[in-house]
Amino acid sequence: MPVTEKKPHGLARGAANYGDPEFALYLRRSFASSMGYSRAMMEKPVVGIADTASDYNNCHRTVPELVEAVKRGVLAAGGLPLAFPTVSLCEPSLTPTSMHYRNLMALDTEAMLSAQPMDAAVLVGGCDKTVPAQLMAAASADVPSVMLVTGPMLAQRFEGERLSACTDCRRYWARYRAGDVSEQRIGEIEGKLATTAGTCGVMGTASTMACLAATLGFMPLMAASAPAVHADRLRMAEEAGTLAVRLITHPVKPSEIITEASVENALRVLLSLGGSTNALIHLTAIAGRAGVKIDLKRLDALSEETPVLVDLKPTGEGYMEDFHAAGGLVALLRELRDLLHLEAKDLYGRTLGEQLDAAPPFVDRTYIRARATPVSPVGGLVSLFGSLAPDGAILKRSAATESLFETEARCVVFDGLADLANRIDDDALDVTKDDILILKNAGPLTPAGMPEAGYLPIPKKLARAGVKDMVRMSDCRMSGTAFGTIVLHISPEAAAGGPLALVESGDRVRLSVKERRLDLLVEESELARRRAAWRKPAAPKRGWDKLMHEQVLQAPEGVDMAFLRPEGV
Ligand code: FES
Ligand code: MG
Repeated sequence: MPVTEKKPHGLARGAANYGDPEFALYLRRSFASSMGYSRAMMEKPVVGIADTASDYNNCHRTVPELVEAVKRGVLAAGGLPLAFPTVSLCEPSLTPTSMHYRNLMALDTEAMLSAQPMDAAVLVGGCDKTVPAQLMAAASADVPSVMLVTGPMLAQRFEGERLSACTDCRRYWARYRAGDVSEQRIGEIEGKLATTAGTCGVMGTASTMACLAATLGFMPLMAASAPAVHADRLRMAEEAGTLAVRLITHPVKPSEIITEASVENALRVLLSLGGSTNALIHLTAIAGRAGVKIDLKRLDALSEETPVLVDLKPTGEGYMEDFHAAGGLVALLRELRDLLHLEAKDLYGRTLGEQLDAAPPFVDRTYIRARATPVSPVGGLVSLFGSLAPDGAILKRSAATESLFETEARCVVFDGLADLANRIDDDALDVTKDDILILKNAGPLTPAGMPEAGYLPIPKKLARAGVKDMVRMSDCRMSGTAFGTIVLHISPEAAAGGPLALVESGDRVRLSVKERRLDLLVEESELARRRAAWRKPAAPKRGWDKLMHEQVLQAPEGVDMAFLRPEGV
């Protein structure tokens, strides 16, 4: 497809400011010449490729070959592909948590998308925080961008079962803590949990975000779930390159596809997947960059009428490879068809309705259920409000224990991560299986940076006695691969002086999923006394930590930074 754009394109877009724009372009071309490009190549439109390969990022192990395939697609379609590095984030590699750096990656990526000459972009990501960061960046830079995910890993057969990161990591670790898996066996399993390239093999945050990105229209629907090591993945990379060049002559900007309609479709998908709670934060941040607001009360209303249809870990049984084989996102969206805004468009300009009409029928109902036989008739997430969470909290009911949905109990409070680590396994800890465990001071404003510590471990003495679940609450997050009756993202967080800051061990707290309530049952006079004694935690003094602390917003705003959001959102 020849590209015949009249406006400055490719390397001629923008210019470094030397006070002489023609000289600036002359200089840019002469430096590009040093890379060995011919003048003919330098005249072509440019597709920038955000390359997130990193030796710290196992989930991105295949990025080099994906980038090569994208380049192939760009060249074949008549563009000049130019890959550039950005921050790359891998869940287990970052201290204090990858979440603390999602906005940094978004800021870096946005700046490079805006500053470097390119007509369109392909964003290569995969691990949990990378796809949200890249889509936030694309929305703010508003450069036509194709999302290409690395894809999920394959599960490993092991002694009659299958294992994959990271629900099985947690399942086995819980059994090890309870004393029914030996030291030697847990060591053996360590080597079997993640055995191929790719992102976590369950419906954790990475897979959920891939499905949401495709639902928003940033990639073909089946590209959300094709395994990392499948040859299709490389073909999808090639197509991403071709599509990016198409976007130069048929531009579709991120701001045109992130709409009220597509965001609501994405929320439906999130609920129907039984998807990750983190994805709600990320979708809120992405939508917020395009001026679309997600209201937790609306989420709740959608949840009442959106069934869980996907039976994958951590809420169900299967792995991402099963989801893909069963028809992936296309099969799911066909089932949800009457609940969706079918007019939403993708990067090809196709409506969702057209895409679903063109898809083949799917017959394998093991992992993607028909509407008549859902995993659950209602959605995976509920939002809670009340005196403990005036601005809201989240519970993944599809991964929780129903008998704990209506709980009023005494709470055992941990003041922060260090306190939790010091006391949770202490045999002297005054705790019973009927108590509520509360962790505070781990929200976005804290140095902990809202880690995935909301999956508080069951105290060892209770785990050994066979306790599998308890009501747990915090102002932080949990991994998309985790499960349990866990209330997350309590807002405002304790460090912002929210009511959570005032909770003390021995207080009574009431959770009612039926009423969507989360209440602290303490007299107002007593709370006023505690509020007067509360002191704001010290702020970090420099660098990224300081900037985050000054600018970060709470969970209902997607934990984005105030200065990165468009005005008026
Ligand atoms: Fe990267 Fe799970 S650690 S996707
Ligand atoms: Mg995760």
